[in-house]
Amino acid sequence: MLIRDPLYFHRTTLAETLLANFKSGIFHALTLFAPRRMGKTQFLLNDVAPLAETQGFSVFYHSFMDSDNDFRAALQLFSENKNNKVKGWFSQIKGISIAGSGVELNKQTEAEPISQIIARLADEKKPTLLLLDEIQELARGVNNSNVVGSLRTGLDLYRDKIKVIFTGSSTNDLRAMFNNGKAPFFHFSHQIDFPPLGRDFSEFLADIYQQRTEAFIDKTALYQTFLRLNQTPMYLRQIIERMIINPALTLEQATEIQLTQSGTGADYHKVWQELTALDQQLLLAVAQGETALYSERNRHELASRLGVAEVKTSSIQGSVRKLENRELLTRDTKNKQSINESAFKTWILDQSVSQN
Ligand SMILES: Nc1ncnc2c1ncn2[C@@H]1O[C@H](COP(=O)(O)OP(=O)(O)OP(=O)(O)O)[C@@H](O)[C@H]1O
Ligand SMILES: [Mg+2]
Repeated sequence: MLIRDPLYFHRTTLAETLLANFKSGIFHALTLFAPRRMGKTQFLLNDVAPLAETQGFSVFYHSFMDSDNDFRAALQLFSENKNNKVKGWFSQIKGISIAGSGVELNKQTEAEPISQIIARLADEKKPTLLLLDEIQELARGVNNSNVVGSLRTGLDLYRDKIKVIFTGSSTNDLRAMFNNGKAPFFHFSHQIDFPPLGRDFSEFLADIYQQRTEAFIDKTALYQTFLRLNQTPMYLRQIIERMIINPALTLEQATEIQLTQSGTGADYHKVWQELTALDQQLLLAVAQGETALYSERNRHELASRLGVAEVKTSSIQGSVRKLENRELLTRDTKNKQSINESAFKTWILDQSVSQN
């Protein structure tokens, strides 16, 4: 039996909005952009999938991160077992067991092109919702152009019956995949920034803490901590978990432990040391909220921080490209730069404060 996660904060309204847009035909393909650990996967599994099922969709989930799980074979198996109630969408996730029985993909079935599988799915009475997680892995793989092309063809032809949500942790690769004029997903999907959780999330955790421990927690301080963690749900819930297990811990202490552990300071230090001074200053500028990296003002600011006469636009371009390739920097749908790992952003800001 799947155990319900008591610390999971449901995002039902967001899921309802997305599904309503699918149903009304506003869009048929959607990409959720967000930096790492913001809760994309959990949202698909805990909010979108169950709601879509109750609304009459057959739901398929696949993570391209799981390299030993063949997407085509998984989709084929799904299409064949769709009417079998025991094997719902979650039976496709390798490693998760249903009623105690682990489900492995049957690789024996004869290979069928993806577009053909989608055509068969579109023939069914129920509409299908495909949840394709970590899609950037597909874009990255050098031998995947057939898969991408076939997927695109199928999704394009049957857009009235087959809906799809893509997500990924590297917006850089996603952008390359969706926005590249030559790539088969050009202008294909509607793109939205996955909205970060807000104060209602930190208050939800505060209430659970108070129920469990009968101790008081300052809700404003907890929200401030959430902001300091760049609104990353994983880190705040780990803090609360730690405080529930050990109610003697103060919020400050639990946060301190969390920052040392999630940031693994030593690793960030190493990454930092390997960067050039310009890379470092660019990351710091982005962490501090600079949005116009190439502006005259910012180039002056960079030059003065680096102690040089001038910083050329081309140098910034080269550096940004490198930082994006290394997935240290990412961009949202409006092309705004941000630090990909929120714990790294916190580390950079803390670091700069302690140096001044
Ligand atoms: N709504 C939520 N309520 C409580 N905890 C959450 C919520 N969303 C995410 N989390 C916590 O954050 C962790 C990371 O979430 P998730 O794996 O969904 O993020 P992600 O955006 O898919 O990250 P990645 O880019 O690494 O794949 C979860 O394991 C969970 O502990
Ligand atoms: Mg994920």
